[in-house]
Amino acid sequence: MSEIANAVTAEHFRYLAERTVGEDAFLRQLKNEARTAGIPPIWISPEQASFMQILLKLCKARDVVEIGTLAGYSAITMARALPPGGKVHTIEVSPVHARFAYQWIARSEVADRVAIHRGDARIILPTFAADSADAAFLDADKPSYPFYLKECLRIVRQGGLIMADNAFAFGELLAHDSNEPEVLAMRAFNDLVAREAALQSIIVPLGDGLWVGVKL
Ligand code: DHB
Ligand code: MG
Repeated sequence: MSEIANAVTAEHFRYLAERTVGEDAFLRQLKNEARTAGIPPIWISPEQASFMQILLKLCKARDVVEIGTLAGYSAITMARALPPGGKVHTIEVSPVHARFAYQWIARSEVADRVAIHRGDARIILPTFAADSADAAFLDADKPSYPFYLKECLRIVRQGGLIMADNAFAFGELLAHDSNEPEVLAMRAFNDLVAREAALQSIIVPLGDGLWVGVKL
């Protein structure tokens, strides 16, 4: 066997996606109605969702912090990976998005496993106790990611999981003519995570690039 370090092509990706549990009718309908409501269609991919559920199950997560609820897709997905009594604490700054997500979470089968915290994560995260969560998922405004990471390193217990979305910066990571603030923020954040001694982490090429880290 030769040493092929990076053999993943678009064809490989299609192959694995076809062999991954996809989303159910409920989540498909949520996405359709979110589009109709004018909510940006920037939810996590089904393959990414399945991988995140596997990680949450492996670390036996009960309490999860999410920054950026959007339509509630990822909160519902993560809650489905938790045991009874588990909770996703999801933070959303947009009242429109929070209202939409609230309705869909309420009619999901994990309504008792998701709590929406309405407001700015920069204010809300500092109110969460140290070592009070098993996992965190960052998926909000990119320039604030360094602050969110610092807070999550305090809130998530040792051995817990920290994930962050959009490591590939909406596909613009390597497009060096792209200087949008959110793209620059993700490039800087990626370099910051790579240097973070309190995390063992890696970018997993699912969705738009998913940072996965274990708190050491
Ligand atoms: C954007 C943000 C996201 O979190 C995402 O997953 C995709 C796109 C954006 O701001 O464009
Ligand atoms: Mg995202």
